[in-house]
Amino acid sequence: MMIKKAVFPAAGFGTRFLPATKAIPKEMLTLVDKPLIQYTVEEAKNAGLEEVIIITGMGKCAIENHFDSSFELEVLLKERGKHETLGVINEISNLIQFAYTRQKRPLGLGHAILCAKALVGAEPFAVLLGDDIIDSRVPVIGQMMKVFERYPASIVAVQKVPRSKAHLYGIVTGERIAPRIYRVVDLEEKPKKPKSNLAIIGRYILTPEIFDTIERTKPGRGGEIQLTDALRILLKDEPVYAYEFEGERFDAGDKIGFIKANIAFALKRPEFRRELRRYLKELGI
Ligand code: UTP
Repeated sequence: MMIKKAVFPAAGFGTRFLPATKAIPKEMLTLVDKPLIQYTVEEAKNAGLEEVIIITGMGKCAIENHFDSSFELEVLLKERGKHETLGVINEISNLIQFAYTRQKRPLGLGHAILCAKALVGAEPFAVLLGDDIIDSRVPVIGQMMKVFERYPASIVAVQKVPRSKAHLYGIVTGERIAPRIYRVVDLEEKPKKPKSNLAIIGRYILTPEIFDTIERTKPGRGGEIQLTDALRILLKDEPVYAYEFEGERFDAGDKIGFIKANIAFALKRPEFRRELRRYLKELGI
């Protein structure tokens, strides 16, 4: 079965990024010159996904406005002869088909995904967390869709992290069955004593059975309904796989990760590269 829909949970409060996120959604923070969420939406489009379902919440309407067409802005740019910028602006609203639904209260990532149940229906779907920015040759969700062709089941993206950081992530234990692919044996959200260093990163492919499973999942860490806990229950009924993706990931929902991502992405841009390199050299670090 083809994967066509991508769910983007974006209803969290972004407390790690306060005060920036007091009035601005974390997903709208700027990475070089585009909001974070646009990179991830572009990843979904480049992977061939057809529809993006964004789970929003209080104070998140800037996300909807960003992907909407902006008549006044378009007229103004046309009048001023700024055709190139006009092209960039038009492209954003024509990127992909969008649907929105709201999570009334931020009860956790699992709960946010459950809010998309009616919009997704009975088909496997992708989940992308907009603040996990991954620089890769092939879009990571596209890499996972390829794995899904061979292993049509739920798949979580993982990356090896230092043991000392493992307690900060959802951790997978699994049995390696092919290059980069593990059959999951167990998963645990932010374990006190991590059993492995395979950390879950914000890209998933989920079977629709996850919805009933989330409904049965009790609040876990932080009193939130965790996706990791739901996947652990799902594992009793169907296989779950972990895929070690190819690419460099930045946790842009965290201040230092965001700063690193800005430097890395700016250095990749031909118009900024030379001056930024010179500046970094001048700093003598
Ligand atoms: P995070 O763990 O990054 O939570 O959620 P957060 O609230 O956004 O940020 P911090 O930790 O307080 O700084 C991972 C993803 O799940 C979404 C978030 O928007 C983010 O994309 N999420 C989380 C929801 O949509 N709803 C929730 O209830 C929780």
